Amino acid sequence: MRIDIITVSPELIQSPFEYSILKRAQDKGLAQIHFHSLRDYAINKYGKIDDYQFGGGAGMVLMMEPIDKCISKLMKERQYDEIIYMTPDAKTLDQSAANQLSSKENLIILTGHYKGVDQRIRDKFVTLELSIGDYVLSGGELAAAVLCDAVIRLIPGVLGDETSALTDSFQDNLLAPPVYTRPADYKGMKVPDILLSGNFPKIEEWRHQEAIKRTNLIRPDLLKIDEKDEN
Ligand code: ADE
Repeated sequence: MRIDIITVSPELIQSPFEYSILKRAQDKGLAQIHFHSLRDYAINKYGKIDDYQFGGGAGMVLMMEPIDKCISKLMKERQYDEIIYMTPDAKTLDQSAANQLSSKENLIILTGHYKGVDQRIRDKFVTLELSIGDYVLSGGELAAAVLCDAVIRLIPGVLGDETSALTDSFQDNLLAPPVYTRPADYKGMKVPDILLSGNFPKIEEWRHQEAIKRTNLIRPDLLKIDEKDEN
């Protein structure tokens, strides 16, 4: 998978890609990440990329021309499956969207800044808009890093143990059950006996029940999604 990230501040987003699973994915040739600084497409020699909004109001808006030039250049080089714009005024990223994106070949991720981008960019180029939650960040860079992490770890071969992504929270609309490691007794705090029993069908059933309990308590809305699917 190739991901082209268009941003005002490449330095703000690069470091998560230099460690751990995102780095391993690139080292294995499973993900290629390219950063594009909007300043390289500025409309003048002073690096202008934004302007005041028509109609008045605080905050600058990223202009059409630099983004148009950058996206048009990339689109001439290859075909993109999605051109994604990270913005709080969009539907929320979830595991199902991450699953779908993990099978794509080429993605562009555009990150906003200040008041966002001129609406005409969204109308002309963007095929998918995603928010990472109902709160406003200073820019879309961190949101883009979150999206990339959620998607890249699902590419087959990226995680050492292929099955571990399948048992993540949300893969079945349930939160993950609790996990424990050694020692079995830490200062009197004991691991549930069932996990030490060696009875794997029983352990699986226990985990499933715990996942349901936890979901009911913390995210009952996820169980309602299941009910909706069944109707
Ligand atoms: N840019 C600013 N806030 C954001 C959010 N919550 N999700 C995606 N992009 C954003």
